[in-house]
Amino acid sequence: MNIAVAADHGGFPLKQSVLDLVRQLGHQASDLGAHQFDAQDDYPDFARYVAQAIQHGQAQRGIIICGSGVGASVAANKLAGVRAAVCHDVYSARQGVEHDDMNVLCLGARVVGDQLAMELVKAFLAAEFSGEQRHRRRLEKVIGMERAK
Ligand code: RB5
Repeated sequence: MNIAVAADHGGFPLKQSVLDLVRQLGHQASDLGAHQFDAQDDYPDFARYVAQAIQHGQAQRGIIICGSGVGASVAANKLAGVRAAVCHDVYSARQGVEHDDMNVLCLGARVVGDQLAMELVKAFLAAEFSGEQRHRRRLEKVIGMERAK
C-alpha cells in the first residue's frame, strides 16, 4: 500500500521511525513533512496533507503524529472520506480497520513510547476491513452522515 505519513513538531521525533517501519513492512511511504523540526508549526496543516493524499487516491492509508494524536484526528476527520482515530492500544489499531474501515492512524508521540508506536503501526497496516454485512451497514451510516453535512 501507499502510506502517507506526516507529523507536526509534537510528533516529529517519532516520524522517521514510523517511515522506516512502514518501508520495512514492504509498503511505500510518502513523507509529507514536517521536513525539519519547527516548534511553531501547526498540526492541521499536516493532517490536511495526509487527508488530501487519501482523498486524491495517492495513499490508501495515512499516519499522522502530533503530541497527543488528538488534534491530528480532529483535523483529519474534517475531510470527506477520511476515517481517522487516535489508537494507543493494539486492539483498537487493528479493530478500527477491521470493523470501522479506519484509514488514518493518529499517534501521540508524547503519549506512546517508540516500541508501542511500532506495534500500533504494524497492527494498523496488517489489518483489513472485514467486509461483514454489519460492518458495511454501519460504515454506510457513517458515510451517510458525512454526505448530509
Ligand atoms: C503541539 O504542541 C500539540 O498541541 C500538538 O502536537 C497536538 O498534541 C495537538 O493535539
